[in-house]
Amino acid sequence: MNILGLDSATPSTAVALARADGLLSAARDDVPDGRRPQHAQRLLTLAAGLLADAGLRWRDLDAVAVGVGPGGYTGLRIGLATAHGIATAVGARLLGVSTLRALAEPVHGRAVLAVLDARRGEAFVAAYEDGEERLPPRVCDPAALARHGAAAGPDSLAIGDGALRFRAFLEDGGIAVAPAESELHRVSAAAICRLAVTGGATAAFPEYLRVADARARASVHHTMTEPARLEIRSLAYSDLPAVAAIERRAFPTPWSIAMFVLELSKPTGVCLAAVLDGKLAGYTICSRYDNVWHVMNVAVAPEARRRGIASALLAELYARAGGERAQFTLEVRRSNQAAIDLYHRDGFRIAGLRRRYYQDNGEDALIMWRTPATLEGRLDDVPAADPVAHHRP
Ligand SMILES: CC(C)(COP(=O)(O)OP(=O)(O)OC[C@H]1O[C@@H](n2cnc3c(N)ncnc32)[C@H](O)[C@@H]1OP(=O)(O)O)[C@@H](O)C(=O)NCCC(=O)NCCS
Repeated sequence: MNILGLDSATPSTAVALARADGLLSAARDDVPDGRRPQHAQRLLTLAAGLLADAGLRWRDLDAVAVGVGPGGYTGLRIGLATAHGIATAVGARLLGVSTLRALAEPVHGRAVLAVLDARRGEAFVAAYEDGEERLPPRVCDPAALARHGAAAGPDSLAIGDGALRFRAFLEDGGIAVAPAESELHRVSAAAICRLAVTGGATAAFPEYLRVADARARASVHHTMTEPARLEIRSLAYSDLPAVAAIERRAFPTPWSIAMFVLELSKPTGVCLAAVLDGKLAGYTICSRYDNVWHVMNVAVAPEARRRGIASALLAELYARAGGERAQFTLEVRRSNQAAIDLYHRDGFRIAGLRRRYYQDNGEDALIMWRTPATLEGRLDDVPAADPVAHHRP
């Protein structure tokens, strides 16, 4: 797979190209402190240079992976709009990667506190250890950074332009900061490419973290290429009228509101809403029986499909249910190729069949599982499938 990686969440413009044969090249433009970022001028030029050097054409790209922040409003908007434009023009997949995760990616074997300068005297921070998230991304006061560093691990290393800017707060709190000249302080687009292939990708929506960033100048500059804002949160009873409206358009035999109420009332389930620009665009319902998570329902409003919303819902579900160690199962109509592709891409594998399971047309259900073994392409830890009442018809 040929992947172009971009990041413009910080004042730097970072671009990388991962060619299918393993060749990795990168280019960047780091503006001196206080100078205006050059994202709009540099992103495409740097990308074109890397493609030419690698002997590739734009249409040879299979995916465009873009850093989704957190970061400044203008930088993220330019990066996402550029990535979206390239992906659409050449028919490549568009993938999002957390900029904080990309910052932390090159560090192995110890906890890393990824810190970006959020301006206005604040920091964006998250912690990771060998790819595992130890502290989810957040915006914070610099005085809180050392506490976050200590919570991430006893030996954590702080990196990023925010770690340099707020070095005194971190070091006073006993957190080591990488030397000022270290490359680790810069977000690497090569890391964005690597995360895109190793499953670190999310939906390509900006992660502003601070409402002020998301709203900044939005009313003045709103254009057709404006990236939309996606939020994944717990589903609430008050969402149910909007859920029912999507449900009716998504399925031949929709669930009733009462069925959603029943699922929401279960203490062990995970029910999530995807809210796009303030409007419910999709949902997923998952129940736990013993140690197995049953994905009962996933749907996205027809006009919002193929933008990574179901993938983002499922990614949040996996995270809440225990990540790679958890076991998930579901049933899907044999003819529902879109859903089968979606689940397959996420590591689900077909492990059984229920003949004539769907009463409306007598269609078979495929039983799919996502387990530690299926994630490695095997089925050896898949238990005997167990039918559950009103699984997604
Ligand atoms: C299935 C469904 C939930 C997917 O939602 P979505 O937000 O469009 O999915 P995503 O954008 O996250 O798609 C992720 C991947 O799934 C696969 N996929 C999704 N829709 C597809 C389609 N129509 N055809 C082929 N593959 C498709 C692709 O691999 C896609 O990746 P790509 O866009 O990079 O190629 C949506 O089509 C839907 O609501 N369908 C009706 C309800 C339903 O069938 N739910 C599943 C019940 S088991």
